[in-house]
Amino acid sequence: MNTEQAIQRWNQHAERYTANYDEHGGIHREVLLNPAIFSLLGEVDEKHVLDAGCGEGYLSRLLVKKGATVTAVDFSQKMLDIAKKRTHSQDTIRFLHGNCEDLSFLADEQFDCIISNMVLQDLEDYRSALHEMYRLLKPNSTFIFSILHPCFVTPNSGWIRHEQLDQQYWRVQRYFYEGTYQQLDADPPIVLYHRTLSSYVQAIIQAGFTIENMIEPKPSQEILEKYPQFEEDLHCADFIVFKLRK
Ligand SMILES: C[S@@+](CC[C@H](N)C(=O)[O-])C[C@H]1O[C@@H](n2cnc3c(N)ncnc32)[C@H](O)[C@@H]1O
Repeated sequence: MNTEQAIQRWNQHAERYTANYDEHGGIHREVLLNPAIFSLLGEVDEKHVLDAGCGEGYLSRLLVKKGATVTAVDFSQKMLDIAKKRTHSQDTIRFLHGNCEDLSFLADEQFDCIISNMVLQDLEDYRSALHEMYRLLKPNSTFIFSILHPCFVTPNSGWIRHEQLDQQYWRVQRYFYEGTYQQLDADPPIVLYHRTLSSYVQAIIQAGFTIENMIEPKPSQEILEKYPQFEEDLHCADFIVFKLRK
């Protein structure tokens, strides 16, 4: 499956995928991803930020609330249509249709910060995307990205009930497999790419970045009081978030 075919799937699923989004982007983003991203982000007031693979745009809108000027790119026209509908005209977001693997229509070194939330595992050519992010950043600025945690979320991973011990286990399979797999709770399934953690780290280094920080998000005590069902996320990490410096 190539990038164009994968994006057709995103076009097909855009309405359903974004139906439960709220201003925080939905519960997993509110509980796990947003706290990690914003703790790594620092001040964005008056900064020019790229939201690479913006989807329905919730993160762009949160960034605008923090004073950023935002350019938001997605390769799914359907996602962009939804994003524009959900964005008030006073929010200064420039939505652009583009493939994160090749954003050559954007000039070099124009962004103070780039964020890509849950996109790199959806890209066939993640190495080119990392090179593009490096090219687009001003010197000494940061790229923050989150992905499904490749050590725990693998093809066929999931909770398994051990009846005799009356316990649940998280099953990891095919960790060293690199390639596409499908998320089966959609029809037709959404296509994802699995790579090992070392492949991601090697690609980051090859693109020229240094790794400044990394978070494996877990729910805070405070958030567990609000959403006790996230107790199971204290056993293994769904996501990993990197902060890279050019
Ligand atoms: C899991 S969603 C995340 C969306 C958004 N960042 C969020 O956190 O809600 C992945 C997004 O990446 C977009 N995408 C997939 N492949 C892309 C590509 N090659 N270039 C740009 N966007 C892409 C999809 O259209 C989709 O909107």
